[in-house]
Amino acid sequence: MQDRYGQSPFFSKLDLELILCYCLGEGGASKDRSFLAAHPEIEINFDQGMAAEIAVHKRFSEGEPLAYILGKKEFYGRDFCVDNRVLIPRPETETLINAVKKIVGEKQDQFLLVDVGTGSACIAATVKLELPKVQVVGVDISEWALTVAKENVDKLGAEVELLQSDLLEKVDFSAYDKESLIIVANLPYVDKNWDWISRELAFEPETALYARDGGLAEIKRFLQQVEEKVSDKCCNFDNIYVILELDSSQKDPLLKYIEKTFSGNQRIKLKQNKKILAQGEDNFALVFEVCKAIA
Ligand SMILES: C[S@@+](CC[C@H](N)C(=O)[O-])C[C@H]1O[C@@H](n2cnc3c(N)ncnc32)[C@H](O)[C@@H]1O
Repeated sequence: MQDRYGQSPFFSKLDLELILCYCLGEGGASKDRSFLAAHPEIEINFDQGMAAEIAVHKRFSEGEPLAYILGKKEFYGRDFCVDNRVLIPRPETETLINAVKKIVGEKQDQFLLVDVGTGSACIAATVKLELPKVQVVGVDISEWALTVAKENVDKLGAEVELLQSDLLEKVDFSAYDKESLIIVANLPYVDKNWDWISRELAFEPETALYARDGGLAEIKRFLQQVEEKVSDKCCNFDNIYVILELDSSQKDPLLKYIEKTFSGNQRIKLKQNKKILAQGEDNFALVFEVCKAIA
């Protein structure tokens, strides 16, 4: 197979091994890679061979992401089911979990976490499993994504409320009796005109990836909704944090937008907190504290 697909721009020996492990596994569970190394003599049967042929073709000829072929992706040490209804969780998104853990500290039972654009529920379910006393809500506009999210929270035993909503529109903050709120948003932030966009992105849902205005349109709309929601007199959290994932090239334009939009006599103030993320973690994320402006 390596001879046949070695020239493919998508070829990787690791992916080939993982496909073989998947085809050799039983009941949806892959064999470990160490199994391949320990059993160089292993012969695969006809069905396993056919499955491997199909998977290898999809991966190395068509460029389909490995996670969709295997139907799963590891995130923060747990496997999440994924298919083309949801974005494949990315390693950089694990940074957001670290940020949540740092903010919450020992005060789990005081926190509500709302994960906007929950997709596979990788953020929502991970927060619930890592910090079981935090109340967690996952929101997505896509009914399809929410079906996958439900599958994951059920499979992992994570108690997460799932809600279909355009950003925060349907989230009623007055319904939650908590002192502190964290809103995590990994929204679509890819601009279709960026030249680094890989062919593999074509397999992922457009609603999960792309946004207008240099990729910032949905993030800006989200921040405007935060302003609406937080300045409502029914929203009574003592502490409010917003954690955003974005591309490193978008940080300066977004910070300028926030400065222009939320300084002065607006209803809320957004103050960047640079202490939560370690150096390197801050490449793809921003953390803000949100305060109601005093009337
Ligand atoms: C970049 S993906 C993030 C998925 C997941 N949270 C993760 O980190 O892997 C963005 C998600 O936001 C959802 N989304 C896009 N526009 C939305 C909107 N207006 N309101 C709520 N969710 C939205 C998409 O359906 C998609 O699941």
